[in-house]
Amino acid sequence: MHPDSLPTGRPTIGARRSYSERPAEERLGIGIVGLHEGHTLLVALRASGLCRAVAGCDLEAGKRWAAEAAVPGLFTTPDYDALLARDEVDIVAIYTPDALHADQIERAFRAGKHVICTKPLINDAADIPRLLRAAEETGRRLQVGQSTRFYEPFQRQREEVEAGAIGQVEVVDAHYVHRMDWYYEKSPWTLESTHWAYLGLSHPVDLVRWYLGSIVEVHAYGFVSELGARFGMKTPDAIVVNLRAADGRIARVFGHYGMHELPKARSLIECFLMGSGGSSLARYPDLRFTRHDARGIEIEEDFHHAMAGYYYRHELKGMHYGEFCNYADYFAARLLDGSPNSPDLVEGLETVRTMDAIVRSLQTGRPESP
Ligand SMILES: NC(=O)c1ccc[n+]([C@@H]2O[C@H](COP(=O)([O-])OP(=O)(O)OC[C@H]3O[C@@H](n4cnc5c(N)ncnc54)[C@H](O)[C@@H]3O)[C@@H](O)[C@H]2O)c1
Repeated sequence: MHPDSLPTGRPTIGARRSYSERPAEERLGIGIVGLHEGHTLLVALRASGLCRAVAGCDLEAGKRWAAEAAVPGLFTTPDYDALLARDEVDIVAIYTPDALHADQIERAFRAGKHVICTKPLINDAADIPRLLRAAEETGRRLQVGQSTRFYEPFQRQREEVEAGAIGQVEVVDAHYVHRMDWYYEKSPWTLESTHWAYLGLSHPVDLVRWYLGSIVEVHAYGFVSELGARFGMKTPDAIVVNLRAADGRIARVFGHYGMHELPKARSLIECFLMGSGGSSLARYPDLRFTRHDARGIEIEEDFHHAMAGYYYRHELKGMHYGEFCNYADYFAARLLDGSPNSPDLVEGLETVRTMDAIVRSLQTGRPESP
């Protein structure tokens, strides 16, 4: 839905996306596990029209207190089973370290809950069969919290493609680059229990699959940067990948987590689409989208003034409030009307298979198939 659609009846801070509106008591209850990035969703849901935060779970007492302060009356617990036992929790939203996601998704399904899981959905392809089995046995549904897709310039880029503005997408060039010393200090699990092919490349790989569909072959090269080595990173934190889709279209994906950023020249995440009838570029964290108009004239849509309140709440550029609220409300709307959502569990696991092939290609030095 276009950002101009401003629902009435609650305060807005500039333009926002809207996926419909229900009275507060009829909104779906969300229980959030992992209250660092999960705290962002907690606050983001203040702008929601279809969901409300009803519970929070974190091992750290300080994170639980911060959640209670943000949402007065919120139920909080260090015990995930206690959150799963709450009747008012319709959807469990998972924001714990990557390696915990598979287990927590399965337990949520088996407790009768739908799931939002942040990216990367999981980081071990061996967990794929048990998750598909749990979804089938319980009939529960999952939305991958693939934040980049739900960020304004990427939503606009998709709308333009679906309107036929650049013809058929033929080639995709996508990257996510970010200097990560601060993240190693904040979240040391990054160094031991995940891989940048999952933690970082899940953004651009998802974008490639969104436009090109199934990927049949990847060829990756990787390198451990000086910054990565200094923090003890043993697997590559600089990765380039060439990808080939089932219908022959091609893409390039790049990630670098030890670089010195140059923000005016290169945004952290970019998706450059080259189509048969034009090109377009979406960026994060800039609220900018560049495209051709029908005459081939380059147009830049700049959402900063209109939407920084929704996407950042006027805090740091790069906060995720707007996109988290977008995917929660999008998923709730799809649950309520019974229509399919994307990326769902099956699509998310296809992306996991692609990232698994990237890790294998880094190890073998050869092209690999998902
Ligand atoms: N763009 C995005 O969507 C985005 C951005 C940042 C992080 N993430 C993802 O969010 C996840 C968490 O990242 P983060 O930066 O918040 O990490 P973090 O290390 O800052 O926070 C993880 C939190 O989970 C809690 N936790 C760990 N085990 C738990 C358990 N068993 N039960 C309850 N709580 C538990 C920890 O106490 C901590 O507060 C990762 O998968 C990451 O990839 C997504």
